[in-house]
Amino acid sequence: MDKFVIQGGRRLSGTISVSGAKNATLALMPAAMLSSGTSLLHNTPALRDVTTMTSLLRTMGMRIDFRDNLLTLDSAAVNGYEAPYEHVKKMRASIYVLGPLIGRYGRAKVSLPGGCAWGPRPVNLHIEGIRKLGADIRLEGGYIIAKAGRLHGARIHFDVSSVGATGNVMMAAALAKGTTVIENAAMEPEITALAGFLIAMGARIDGSGTNRLEIQGVDALHPADFITIPDRIEAGTFLIAGAITGGNVRLEHVVPEHLSAITSKLEAAGCAIRVGPGSLSLTAPPTLRPVDVTAAVYPGFPTDMQAQWTSLMSVASGTAVVTDSIYFDRFKHVPELTRLGADIELKENSAVIRGVARLAGAKVMSTDLRASASLILAGLVASGTTEVLRVYHIDRGYEAIEKKLQSLGAEISREAGEEF
Ligand code: EPZ
Repeated sequence: MDKFVIQGGRRLSGTISVSGAKNATLALMPAAMLSSGTSLLHNTPALRDVTTMTSLLRTMGMRIDFRDNLLTLDSAAVNGYEAPYEHVKKMRASIYVLGPLIGRYGRAKVSLPGGCAWGPRPVNLHIEGIRKLGADIRLEGGYIIAKAGRLHGARIHFDVSSVGATGNVMMAAALAKGTTVIENAAMEPEITALAGFLIAMGARIDGSGTNRLEIQGVDALHPADFITIPDRIEAGTFLIAGAITGGNVRLEHVVPEHLSAITSKLEAAGCAIRVGPGSLSLTAPPTLRPVDVTAAVYPGFPTDMQAQWTSLMSVASGTAVVTDSIYFDRFKHVPELTRLGADIELKENSAVIRGVARLAGAKVMSTDLRASASLILAGLVASGTTEVLRVYHIDRGYEAIEKKLQSLGAEISREAGEEF
């Protein structure tokens, strides 16, 4: 298993281009199954999760080609309706095949996701939503088994705002007979992008970008070309790389308003942020002010940025509290940051971070995608050498992260790691 070896202390400066959004792509790919023919997804990032989704959809008969960040998806020959445990256990987002399969083919057999580095991460809202659309859906042997004739519209209220459940129900409802209203729908840009793709395919969706979606089902959808939005979490991670190293970084190919919760917190910490058309620039202050953050649904501060913020606050000039209101135990990065000298105390779903003058390099272990990012960020500022092990986690969600960091002046290399 590969590792990253980082020599800390370099001040990052320069410009990088942000890749397409992983969490949009993982919904857009199965959505292509809702029509027969070939759709094109431009600006698709080259990530492990995209490879995993590609191999899953190919087992269902989709013909998929990926070249130079252009994904070509031909769903004319789809003849499989199952997402087996082997795929779903590698990537929870495999559950995004449920909505398209039940919506277009009237059948689906999707493994329950199983464990995650943090959790629980239930899928009850997906199941209840698809059931309300008229499917016979039940759990059997660790699988979600669903059957339906033509789905019918329904009024669905999510008790909890769920990105995945909103995506699945929206995809299934696009081909239902009648009108579906989703209340307390997720407003994340990745869901707005999914709505945009479905509309390009001929779906009739109102309320995109708000927490109330209204979908008029149509009889059929057609293939479409679509440009995937930039990845706001990658962008936020690189802004923090600039902030934590006292640097000066510029990001291109971003949607600044997708990051407003992050940039306003960075300004509160003393960073200077400049917004341009499709670009964001950050200049770090000599010392960082401590700033509390509570991760919440969009447009709040993203839970997928919570670990990265914790790393930043570990070298701020005071005490900050980071709370996660989405996932109460998404703190597997904390013990590893402590090995680098961070002073962090966990209290229920909050991390109390007392900033220290200096972190010191050490060997640390990745446990999940965003925890890996937080360890890399800490390694960039820690004195001496930091080794981040099991970087396959990071390859799931960041395209060539070490090359982008090297282009900003970081001393980071990918090396073969010890086998465990
Ligand atoms: C998406 O996961 C993202 N993944 C996650 O990003 C992200 O952390 C999460 O949204 C929250 O923003 C993808 O888009 C592929 P949810 P998802 O359903 O859809 C509860 C990353 O690092 N819930 O919005 O699984 C759940 O327990 C990944 O890129 C139910 O109770 O998240 C959680 O507390 C990690 N029942 C809350 O809702 C359900 O049926 C939000 O989960 C579904 C969810």
